[in-house]
Amino acid sequence: MSIGKFPKDFLWGGAVSASQCEGAYDVGGKGLSTADILPGGKTRIPLLQYAKPALATVYDYYPSHEGIDFYHRYKEDIALLAEMGFKAFRTSIAWSRIFPKGDEEEPNEEGLKFYDALLAEVVRQGMEPVITISHFEMPLHLVKEYGGWLNPRVVEFYERYARVLLARYRTQVKYWITFNEINMTLHAPFIGGGLIIENDDDRAQKVYQAAHNQLVASARAVIAARELAPEAKIGCMLAGGPYYPQTPNPEDVFAAMAMDRQNLFFADVQVRGSYPSYMQRFFRERNVEIKITAAEKEILRRGTVDFVSFSYYMSHVATAQKQSNGVDGVLNLFASAPNPYLTKSEWGWPIDPLGLRYTLNQLYDRYQKPLFIVENGLGAKDQVEADGTINDEYRISYLRDHIRAMQEAVEDGVDVIGYTPWGCIDLVSLSTGEMAKRYGFVYVDRDDQGKGTLKRIRKKSFYWYKKVIATNGQEL
Ligand code: BG6
Repeated sequence: MSIGKFPKDFLWGGAVSASQCEGAYDVGGKGLSTADILPGGKTRIPLLQYAKPALATVYDYYPSHEGIDFYHRYKEDIALLAEMGFKAFRTSIAWSRIFPKGDEEEPNEEGLKFYDALLAEVVRQGMEPVITISHFEMPLHLVKEYGGWLNPRVVEFYERYARVLLARYRTQVKYWITFNEINMTLHAPFIGGGLIIENDDDRAQKVYQAAHNQLVASARAVIAARELAPEAKIGCMLAGGPYYPQTPNPEDVFAAMAMDRQNLFFADVQVRGSYPSYMQRFFRERNVEIKITAAEKEILRRGTVDFVSFSYYMSHVATAQKQSNGVDGVLNLFASAPNPYLTKSEWGWPIDPLGLRYTLNQLYDRYQKPLFIVENGLGAKDQVEADGTINDEYRISYLRDHIRAMQEAVEDGVDVIGYTPWGCIDLVSLSTGEMAKRYGFVYVDRDDQGKGTLKRIRKKSFYWYKKVIATNGQEL
């Protein structure tokens, strides 16, 4: 049986984000960010949506404050990734390192110096940096003083920040992503949009107005990139994963389409440059009124992206029946009915490789833009054996099945440009703040209380992925 061949310059690599790995939360003039006030453990998940208690509480432990100390150990870490043969490395820049409060006129030179050095190292090791401008953190000051993304002034601050990055790194960075999982503003308004939602009465109004401001900001960054870094490719990014209908009942089938549209709406705007017509009725029926000026319409029209990137962890199930706030699985922020055909991870996330092929086909049919899978992976507990090895066969098996699905999509004719699995080196979980939920090829000795030597250990999957890259995906 023929298997899809990946293009010769396919971007094999891995992904992390600043607030989940760097640590050094108050070093080099960095300001406090939204990620820095979140605790670990069970109390964290509701805070991603309703963050008010986090602003008023002092917790014993904040996982982002030290992360995995990537800030001080990045050379060693990048060398490990280079040893696997990485062609690309995706990370984000911490906005609060560059503009500690967010509303300053001038950037913090010390913060920029850190990324000068980091990017130089990534390039020196032969990897293409893939940079997310905003990945689930923003200066806390912008939340407290301006109300986060609800305030159009934040669009200006973001553009100023994006312009600094685009101008400074135009020669090192070709691939830029404006916002990580921009649709997460709907599902996790605090971490996605810096929003303090107190009750659900005006939630739709707030999240969609904030999302609109982010869409305008994204388009402004694209326009700035055309001017400042004309060689750059700039993309949008979705939390991907399709909704399947629970039954062939047309009501369920339609519900699945409606749920998909809630997420695809963002890319519809970022790729096509205007709001899709289906949103008019959606807003009207929810009494949502988005203020869109003529100037903003023009910005959206001009600021369309070069590629579409997405994370893929799971598929979801839609039903026309009302869900009881619908959170299935322990820690999945997307409403979903259970899918009896799929097994689940230890954290209750359904495992569905075919859903990746489905998503790739769906997005390519819809947009005909190059696609980039910038996150995928299995969060699992790892065991260090007495001889110091880590035999993470379960992770290999998950990734193998997903890479096969990606190969099938290549055979289907989809233009996939790269694959950067999530948390290539173990890091702090976004949803739970745990270290125990590990994704990496490289193990980091640190636990959920922040104890451990921070020593790095190559897992079995490290050697496996190295071979996958060396054979351009032919040996799995
Ligand atoms: C994505 C995010 O939602 O999923 C990452 O972009 C996150 O920041 C990843 O870490 C995995 O989620 P979690 O909750 O297992 O860390």
